[in-house]
Amino acid sequence: VKKLNFVYTPHCLIEQKEIKQVQAALAPVAEQMRSALLQGYATDYASLSVPDDASMLATVQELIADKKRLNPTVLVIIGIGGSNLGTRAFHEALYGTLHNERPGLKVYYLDTVDTDSTHDKLERIEHELRNNGSVLVNVVSKSGTTLESAAQFSVILELLKRYTPAYQEHVVVTTDRDSALWRLAHEQGFACLEIPRKVGGRYSVFSPVGLFPLGLIGVDIEACIQGARAAREHALQVHLPDNPASIMAALLAIQYAAGLTIHDTFLFSPDLESFGKWYRQLVAESLGKATTTQGQVVNIGLTPTVSIGSTDLHSMVQLYLAGPHNRFTTFIAVENARRQLQIPDTTARTLAPAMAAQSFATLMHAILQGTQKAYERAQRPFVSWVIPEKNAWYIGQLMQYKMMEVMYLGSLWNINPFDQPHVELYKQETQRLLAHE
Ligand code: PA5
Repeated sequence: VKKLNFVYTPHCLIEQKEIKQVQAALAPVAEQMRSALLQGYATDYASLSVPDDASMLATVQELIADKKRLNPTVLVIIGIGGSNLGTRAFHEALYGTLHNERPGLKVYYLDTVDTDSTHDKLERIEHELRNNGSVLVNVVSKSGTTLESAAQFSVILELLKRYTPAYQEHVVVTTDRDSALWRLAHEQGFACLEIPRKVGGRYSVFSPVGLFPLGLIGVDIEACIQGARAAREHALQVHLPDNPASIMAALLAIQYAAGLTIHDTFLFSPDLESFGKWYRQLVAESLGKATTTQGQVVNIGLTPTVSIGSTDLHSMVQLYLAGPHNRFTTFIAVENARRQLQIPDTTARTLAPAMAAQSFATLMHAILQGTQKAYERAQRPFVSWVIPEKNAWYIGQLMQYKMMEVMYLGSLWNINPFDQPHVELYKQETQRLLAHE
């Protein structure tokens, strides 16, 4: 089995000695994580225990088998933020962004409450229902009361009731035990999957939040969990010179202290754009904090950005290479594409002879190498990750490494990477406005 290839030196522009010192400072937190693993879901590091939960996996697999008996033609995933970004990241990495244009199960994500885009999706879902399709709805909300998800669920449920006599069988709720949504699910007879209380939304992709819809779509969820476990064991050995989680945390902390407050994830695979958005939320909500755990005001946080290669070379790279020295870059590429694609030796020979009769993969690789050379010449620091292929095992690893990178950086900054008090502020204000208080 190939490993994720993580290369950071010399392009990170930080001395190995300095990185090692910061890695060593992470030993106590790795120790805390190890001891947390022995306590299951009891600690703030609960998400690290999720991939070991065999009974949760069995429950999810049973429910997937049960719901597959309904022969779903459409899966509607209602959820926002941590409740859908991980699923979508995984889904698109494996099935591409045009997944709904393939034969088989169609998947619609309902998150924000924009009227027109919601309406467009509802039309498609209703069309399916009218044509005797089987629609399965998975509503995911940890709190159970997020306005957007509650609104989407209300609309979908009415639609489902109109066309599906045994509509209750077509709804799966994923939420915290005893939330308002949990109670509604039990009252109305919907299947209900529990999110362990201390597993926060953005750390929940390996819980029923991600596993149920992914398994239903056809992702090998056991492989994704095994990938997560392999990455976790590796990432816990903080001192290793090839540990992407501890090294990334060290590099980001060192570069942040030097004024590089932006972290750009430059994905050389459009299928990974949603992964980039998942990581953006993970970094922004976990690390953007007003105070340390002791209450000292720090107003700290990396600004995560997402760029797509090679598309954004034609829109952003002028700024990246010539603008302020305030950005650290992580390139992520995929070694083996799902398919092969050759550039015909005809028109290309006239327009760009160097690439004629080569493959798209060779061209993309050359562009990536050329970009990294340009970064090197402009003295812009970067690291590079290469995933052997976009399958459940490697994407599982990637996401687990990234979650631990963020936990490690949170501990270096002495902040709580698991809460999001300022997200609650907008929620409270909106509730107040809607209630005309
Ligand atoms: O990661 C988080 O905690 C947030 O992004 C939440 O997932 C998001 O606000 C949605 O909340 P809920 O799952 O309670 O509907």
